[in-house]
Amino acid sequence: MDLVTEKKELIYKTVLDHMHEGVILIDTSTKVVYVNDSYYQILGIKNKSIIGEFLDDIQPGTNVSKVIKNGKPLINVEFTFIQTNVRVVANILPIFNEDNSLFGAISVFRDVTEVRNLIQEIEHLKGYTEYLKERLEVNSNAAFSSMVGEHPSIIQVKEKVKKVANTDTTVLVTGESGTGKEVVATIIHEASNRKNRPLIKVNCAAIPESLLESEFFGYADGAFTGSKRGGKLGKFELANKGTIFLDEVGDMKPNLQAKLLRVLQEKKIERVGGEAPIDVDVRIIAATNCNLYEKVKKKEFREDLYYRLFVFPIEVPALRKRKTDILTLAIKFLEEFSLKYNKQLSFSADVTKLLISYEWPGNVRELKNVVEHAVVMSEQSGRIIVANFPSYLKEIRSGGQQDGIDHLHLYRNFAQIEKSAMEEALIVTKYNRSEAMKLLGMSRNKFYKKIKEYQLD
Ligand SMILES: Nc1ncnc2c1ncn2[C@@H]1O[C@H](COP(=O)(O)OP(=O)(O)OP(=O)(O)O)[C@@H](O)[C@H]1O
Ligand SMILES: [Mg+2]
Repeated sequence: MDLVTEKKELIYKTVLDHMHEGVILIDTSTKVVYVNDSYYQILGIKNKSIIGEFLDDIQPGTNVSKVIKNGKPLINVEFTFIQTNVRVVANILPIFNEDNSLFGAISVFRDVTEVRNLIQEIEHLKGYTEYLKERLEVNSNAAFSSMVGEHPSIIQVKEKVKKVANTDTTVLVTGESGTGKEVVATIIHEASNRKNRPLIKVNCAAIPESLLESEFFGYADGAFTGSKRGGKLGKFELANKGTIFLDEVGDMKPNLQAKLLRVLQEKKIERVGGEAPIDVDVRIIAATNCNLYEKVKKKEFREDLYYRLFVFPIEVPALRKRKTDILTLAIKFLEEFSLKYNKQLSFSADVTKLLISYEWPGNVRELKNVVEHAVVMSEQSGRIIVANFPSYLKEIRSGGQQDGIDHLHLYRNFAQIEKSAMEEALIVTKYNRSEAMKLLGMSRNKFYKKIKEYQLD
């Protein structure tokens, strides 16, 4: 006889005694013949042996008793011990004598209370996640409502924004000045899961070159004479876990382009005068109103950086290419400014025609400024008339804008009109350039470029 056969009983008992599963063995009269420690532990029975007792007396109607009655096994049955509220999964098997008569039944069971609780918790969390998802959707819809327009080209922009918002993908927003690139960048951030973190906007054209590096990357304590004690956080560190909006990225100087490329590649920044590189987790949205690829061809913009930024381009169409949105936008701005200036106004039919036929070289910004101008110029209530608008708009119109409009002709005349408009704006604002560019709806950049071009300085 080998050792296992010889010590069979001892081995089986040791195994049963030390199993994690609870084990109970009863005979045909439901008298408890054997229980292991786990049985007591799982069912929370303390300081009490039930061996020798009749199960039908202490726990009437148990599944083990059922097996005794019908001789059929119960596999993977799940039930709760009412006394202790413990949930178990059991295998209950009848045991037969050699002559096939029933000897008793054994139940081996596992405590699944914790698993059940976890499952319940998961279900609960699932519901909660759904709820949060809905909330997020409502919020991002709110963000989207700040972008007015139903023209298919704008709908397409919105769809792209929706798709990309909740990723960390770098986005390049292109489009003419005043088309709403910053609006797009803001919505992407607002609809992303970074929305509770900062959105840091940096105008790459506006920072003087000598300050660029420290503005972007900050500086360490005592980095240079006159630097602030304790150093200074750069835009990238300020935007950590959030989004950085690099506006006018096409105007970035080559030196900074190289540094930005490194940040994009390594996700680390180095403070001026700092020792170790610092990890940053920043989502990048860049915008430009120039043709970046042209700049690459002219070697004014690094090709490698261009491809790093050109991952997900979104082009915001010019307002003249979505004429059906002009009135929607104009009415929104009219409401906004009527509220601001406490007036009750609407557009006259002539105004509507004027707004639609104009080409809007300054795009939505120009439209917004023009509407504000008209609201300021108009009476307290009633209709806004053509005379309330800046005269350069009207000049274009009287320049022969009937149906069968000659847009090309208009465009050729545009430079002349733009120049007069700028002159007028400068005179009206007593040469206050900031006021003048606001009145015209021009970005600072464009304004100064045009001042040079038309020799107005
Ligand atoms: N679809 C839109 N709905 C409502 N307002 C808009 C929309 N597009 C632009 N605007 C408004 O027009 C103005 C100009 O928009 P924005 O600053 O985003 O343009 P931009 O493309 O960044 O211009 P630039 O190239 O000159 O920087 C802002 O006041 C903005 O709120
Ligand atoms: Mg902008």
